[in-house]
Amino acid sequence: MKHKPIHILAFNVLAFLVFTTGCEWGQRPVQFDPEAVPFERLSDYHFFRGDLAQLQPNERVLPYDLNTSLFSDYAEKKRFIWMPEDVTGTYNETTVFDLPAGTVLIKNFYYPEDFREEASPRRILETRLLTHSPEGWTGLPYVWNDDQSEAYLRRAGDEKQVEFINSRGESVQVHYLIPNVNQCRACHAQDGKILPIGTAARHLNRDFDYEDGRQNQLVRWQQAGYLGDVPDPADAPRLADARDPDSGTIDMRARAYLDINCGHCHNPAGAAKASGLFLYSDVDHPTALGIHKPPVAAGRGTGGKSFSIVPAHPDDSILLYRMITTDPGIRMPELGRTLVDEEAVELIREWIAGMDFEGK
Ligand code: HEC
Ligand code: HEC
Repeated sequence: MKHKPIHILAFNVLAFLVFTTGCEWGQRPVQFDPEAVPFERLSDYHFFRGDLAQLQPNERVLPYDLNTSLFSDYAEKKRFIWMPEDVTGTYNETTVFDLPAGTVLIKNFYYPEDFREEASPRRILETRLLTHSPEGWTGLPYVWNDDQSEAYLRRAGDEKQVEFINSRGESVQVHYLIPNVNQCRACHAQDGKILPIGTAARHLNRDFDYEDGRQNQLVRWQQAGYLGDVPDPADAPRLADARDPDSGTIDMRARAYLDINCGHCHNPAGAAKASGLFLYSDVDHPTALGIHKPPVAAGRGTGGKSFSIVPAHPDDSILLYRMITTDPGIRMPELGRTLVDEEAVELIREWIAGMDFEGK
């Protein structure tokens, strides 16, 4: 074997050090070419720098949060958006933003060992991607390995046994289900086409603690070039945080919860369109919202009750009944949870109990 000149060797060593320590100029940019993906390994996209499990966003990978998020058996989430440099998205007031081909949305699911401790070690279970090619959006599930060094594309989904200590100090066991690609579709398809769900003004209009300070997310997305013109956040729609009593009235918090947890199926283009029960926050027709609304299909799912919502009578309301159960044939949402969302059940109970006969 021929010896390499010493300066090339030195350069290689230096390049290796810089690369592995994740220095600015040694870091590869995000690798996303709609023609070449999907990659089998999450790390191949370079969404994160350094140790993958730290989820430290690479250049142009922007973290975001929602006012109220989807309940997934108490799993915590970290969400990110990435877009190539030459494109930009369009703000919409009521529907999800139009995010151009090339966009990737990244959602990581994890459990802290102990929810009472801020610095508790965490276990990441899955990373879901929505990738946008000129043909449309695609949902891709990546499953993390046990040593937290890599996540692999698993179109068939997976199952994991998880144990954690909840905020009340109780030990909880979850048989955690990672959805397969058909299940992504069940929640994300509107009129048969996959779309993002949370990337709308009412969910994103809030402040976020960025590395360089606190800022409204809509303003930040515009600054980053991810959105064109956005209105003053004070004039843009904004939902309450269902889990924060200070963020709005019971009605505002309940409607925010039903919007993000149920609305994607319960709307005229979603999987539950035939039910006629529509749960987006702008629905104001009482029957569409479930008030004195008889179920479309009788059967086990009704629990022998007559209406989705019976004002002032939460325990006679099918809507609450289907949130309280874990029975796979009855529970709502039908996908994405195996535990009861105890805090949400309390909120919806209080909401229905406080209604007058008209549901006001
Ligand atoms: C039970 C319904 C449900 C299933 C099943 C589901 N999602 Fe979602 N997903 C949601 C909701 C609701 C949101 C927005 C709320 C949030 O992020 O908490 C969301 C958000 C996302 C986001 C962030 C961008 C966005 O749309 O707001 C990604 C990425 C994503 N999902 C990918 C996937 C993939 C990939 C699958 C299949 C492996 C999947 N999802 C399965 C309901 C679902
Ligand atoms: C993954 C899609 C999906 C999600 C998410 C979902 N549902 Fe449903 N829901 C359905 C489908 C499909 C039906 C009709 C079949 C049935 O009754 O099981 C339905 C029916 C119902 C019904 C009976 C309505 C009627 O009048 O017949 C109620 C009540 C209900 N859902 C409540 C909820 C609530 C509350 C949530 C959120 C906490 C929710 N659903 C989330 C798919 C979904």
